[in-house]
Amino acid sequence: MSSNDAYANLLLSASLRERGLRGQDAALATELVYGTLRNRSCYDAVISMCADRDLDQIDPPVLAVLRLGTHQLLGMRIKAHAAVATTVDLAVAIAGRRPAGFVNAVLRRIAPRELESWIELVAPDRATDLAGHLSTRYSHPRWIVEALAAALGESAPGLPQTVPGDGLTAPGQTRAEAGLAQAKPGLPQAERGLPQAERGLPQADRGLPRTEAALAADQDRPAVTLAAVPGLASRDELVTAGAEAARWSPFGAYLDHGDPGAISAVAEGRAAVQDEASQLAVLALTRAAAEGRDRFWLDLCAGPGGKARLLAGIAAERGASLVAADLHEHRARLAAGALSGTGTARVISADGTAPAWRPGAFDRVLADVPCSGLGSLRRRPEARWRRDPADIAALGELQRALLDSAVEATRPGGVVAYVTCSPHLAETRDILDDVLGRRQDIAVLDCPALLAEVPDLRCRQPYSRYAQFWPHRHGTDAIFIALLRRTGADSLPA
Ligand SMILES: C[S@@+](CC[C@H](N)C(=O)[O-])C[C@H]1O[C@@H](n2cnc3c(N)ncnc32)[C@H](O)[C@@H]1O
Repeated sequence: MSSNDAYANLLLSASLRERGLRGQDAALATELVYGTLRNRSCYDAVISMCADRDLDQIDPPVLAVLRLGTHQLLGMRIKAHAAVATTVDLAVAIAGRRPAGFVNAVLRRIAPRELESWIELVAPDRATDLAGHLSTRYSHPRWIVEALAAALGESAPGLPQTVPGDGLTAPGQTRAEAGLAQAKPGLPQAERGLPQAERGLPQADRGLPRTEAALAADQDRPAVTLAAVPGLASRDELVTAGAEAARWSPFGAYLDHGDPGAISAVAEGRAAVQDEASQLAVLALTRAAAEGRDRFWLDLCAGPGGKARLLAGIAAERGASLVAADLHEHRARLAAGALSGTGTARVISADGTAPAWRPGAFDRVLADVPCSGLGSLRRRPEARWRRDPADIAALGELQRALLDSAVEATRPGGVVAYVTCSPHLAETRDILDDVLGRRQDIAVLDCPALLAEVPDLRCRQPYSRYAQFWPHRHGTDAIFIALLRRTGADSLPA
C-alpha cells in the first residue's frame, strides 16, 4: 500500500475477497493493516531505536514487514515468539534470508518492552514538548496535532496561541452567552466546560486535553453505522435485522458485528453504511426553513453519493427533486449507482465552479466540498501520512469557489449547507469568513439549534452558529456544517 499509494479500504477489501478470507481471518488481517497504519510513526520511532541503520536505509518492503511485526508485538495480544516467527517467515518470503535475519534481530530487541514503556523512551518529553509527545504517542504528524489544537481552542508551549480560557467561551464571555450550559457545581474548576469524553485525564496531562482526546479517538476503530434511505427502508427495519437504533439520526443504526452486506436493506441498496454525522448534515439542511418554494434541490459535489442518497429520499417524500452533480465522471457514476431506486434524482457530471444551471435555480443546495479528510482518520488512517499543509492551502481555493457557486445557485430565501469532513480551521471557518466577507447576500443560520438533540456541537464564539462534530465527543467523523440562507441581493447579513 505504501509503495503504490493505494487506499487501505479499497486494497484491503479486494485482497480479502481475492484470498477468500472471512470471519476471524478477515478481522485479523484488517486489524493488522489498520493498526499498523494508525501507529506508523510511533512504531517507526521504536524500530529506529532498535535498528542499526536509519529507516530510509531499510528496503520499503522490509520496513513494512517490520511495522507489521511491531504492531503484533506492541499493539495486539499476540505472543512474542509467535509474532516474531510469523514476521520472520514473511520477511523470508518477501525479501529473502538476509533481510529476514535483520527483521529477527530488530523484533527481538523490541519484544521485551511494552508499548507504554517504548513511548516513554522514544517520544519527546510531555512536560517540555507536549505537542511533540502527543504526535509520537498517537502517531499523527505534528502539523495535524497543531491543527486539531487550534480547532479545539487549545494551546501549549511551542504551539501557536489560540483563544485563552476554557476554549469554549471567548475572553470575557459567559458560558450562557456562548450558548453553553452552566458548569455543574461539584466538578473541578479545570473540568468545567469539558465534554464527558475529555474529563478524567490525569492533571499532568491538562495542557491539551481536548486535543489528546481527539487524537486518541482517531486511533479507535469506528463503529459501523447504517443509514436507511427514507421512503425505501426505515431505521426499524435495520433494528429488526440486528442493528441498534442510532442516538440521533432518525435514519441511522449501529451495527456492532457482522457483515452489513448480509442485511437485506443494504444488499438491495435501500440502506448503506454511512457515518452518523454525515447523515445529520443532510438532516440539518432539510430541517432549515426555506422561505417560499421548496422543490428544486442540488448536491453540488455528490460523488460517491452517500449524502445524495439520503437527500433524494427526503426530497421524494416532500415532492421535491434532486440534481446530483460531480466534476468527475466516475464519481458521478458512483452517485448514480447510489441513487438508483430513489426515483427523483438526476445525476450529471459538471464542474460546480462553472455551473450548468442558471443562477438562483435551486431552493436547497448542499456543498459537501473536497477536503483534506482530516475528519475521517479513524477510517482512513493513511490520510495523515499523505496530506501536508500545502494541500490545505491548495484546497482552500476550490472550497471558496464551490461555496460561492453554491450560494449563486440558490435563490434568495433558499438554504445552503457548507460541509467538510475536516475540522481544520482553514477549511471551515476561514472559508466562510472569506466568502461572507465578500458577499452581502448571506445570513448564517443556527445549525446547532437545528440539531438540538446533539450535544456539544457549537464552535467557539464568534462562530457558535457553526456545528463541529468530533470523534471523541460524538463517536462520529469530525464533520463541520455551516447553514446559510441566501438573502435578497440588497439585504445585509443577519
Ligand atoms: C467530499 S466529496 C463528496 C462526498 C459526497 N457528498 C458523499 O456524501 O458521498 C467531494 C466531491 O467533490 C467532487 N468535486 C471536486 N471538484 C469539483 C468541482 N469543481 N465541481 C463539482 N464536484 C467537484 C469530487 O469529485 C468529490 O466526489
